[in-house]
Amino acid sequence: MRSRVLFTGGTVVTTEGMNSVNVLIEGEIIRAVEPGLDVPADRTVDCTGKLLFPGIIDPHTHMGIPIKDIWSADDFNSGSRAALQGGVTTIIDFTVLEPNQSLKASFHTRRDLARVSLVDVALHVNLTRFSEDLLNEIPDLVADGAVSFKVFTTYREAGMMLDYDQIRTAAERIARAGGVLMVHAEDDAILQKALIPLLNRKYTHPRYHGQSRPDAAEAEAIRRVANIGIQTNCPVYVVHLSSARGLAAAQEGNVLVETCPQYLLLDDRCYDREDGAMFVASPPLRKPADSEALWQGITDGTIHALGTDHCPFCRKDKPAGLPFQDIPNGMGGVDTLFPVLLTQFLDRGLSLPRLASLLSRNPAEIFGLYPQKGAITPGSDADLVIVDPKKRSTDWMDQRLSRTDWTAYADFPAIFPDQVWRRGELMYMKGALVGKSNGRFIPGHRPQWDVINSRLK
Ligand code: URP
Ligand code: ZN
Ligand code: ZN
Repeated sequence: MRSRVLFTGGTVVTTEGMNSVNVLIEGEIIRAVEPGLDVPADRTVDCTGKLLFPGIIDPHTHMGIPIKDIWSADDFNSGSRAALQGGVTTIIDFTVLEPNQSLKASFHTRRDLARVSLVDVALHVNLTRFSEDLLNEIPDLVADGAVSFKVFTTYREAGMMLDYDQIRTAAERIARAGGVLMVHAEDDAILQKALIPLLNRKYTHPRYHGQSRPDAAEAEAIRRVANIGIQTNCPVYVVHLSSARGLAAAQEGNVLVETCPQYLLLDDRCYDREDGAMFVASPPLRKPADSEALWQGITDGTIHALGTDHCPFCRKDKPAGLPFQDIPNGMGGVDTLFPVLLTQFLDRGLSLPRLASLLSRNPAEIFGLYPQKGAITPGSDADLVIVDPKKRSTDWMDQRLSRTDWTAYADFPAIFPDQVWRRGELMYMKGALVGKSNGRFIPGHRPQWDVINSRLK
């Protein structure tokens, strides 16, 4: 028998606003959301004084991927434990395309690896090679639930880059299939021009990582892919936007934009710290003025989603003294995404419904998971995050469930959830994992672009 749980007395925070309503769930699904709802239930959860957010969706994770001869430190199991601690109930990860592999095989391999995840998983397809055969697979993949295809305008040396003509051809095919083009936007030619003089001078400290990847590269790549989007009528989503110049290009080009906590909260002074190598990720950390521009983008709605680009490493993986070009790129953050940003939104007086949009509804809509995910409404999955906004802590470091021994956010106050429910199962409570069952693959459906464009752009 499916058990019924009634959540009473809390404030539900969604895109629509903040409402004092009770929530009834039955089995995996939300059944009713009403003020004063009072019905028989197997269990009642008193949420007085608490906020209820829809399960957080991290639309950008890389669990257990190869980077420069090692692997990102979290696999799907350990990364999903960390995710639950921070209220994330769905991640959208990326396929890894091996040499000679079809897109479909890369999708199935990744889907199999994700079976050990405790949170639900959707997948973006990495299009890191260009061939007619690969492009021909796009419609079938969209039908199988992978609606987003990511290209890189750099990483030529790693064999992952597509040139702009190839991206245009891919965009035509993605548009025809009803999908979305995701772009890691840093123009490779501009990056090469910046890198070579630094290497010639043997400037290899982590601080030169930033100088080797100027914001002009981000802005140029965004201008180019935005034009491609217009020419091909293909929706474009720029991942991990980092700079004020990039944001201006994105606004002009009317593309969908994701940024990450690291670009909002950290800046390039981190590279001069003793653990500066740990902050090496691409794009790099920028100037404080860039972070301020990104906060403005959050306020004015020109940033549409927040993801982590969760690709963590342990201290031993990035020892001090490594030349920046040999440091594995990436940082973690799936556990701190919501706890740190909730605190920041409260301190900055920003709208909590907007936070719910950026962390749940918007990524759900853009990647075709809405209204199964991203909503607290009858019929949606019972993914709920219960959080006490008064319970802010600064000594949370030794309570982390992540496998990694380092986080960029150690100095930030955070409000961790009291309880996290994933499809009707209590998965995390008061600092401990209590759920048993694994997550599920959640297929995306063709996104409703007319609805998304009229709501977001
Ligand atoms: O440095 C980063 N961001 N590593 C992860 C891979 C990517 O480019 O998103
Ligand atoms: Zn990237
Ligand atoms: Zn990434």
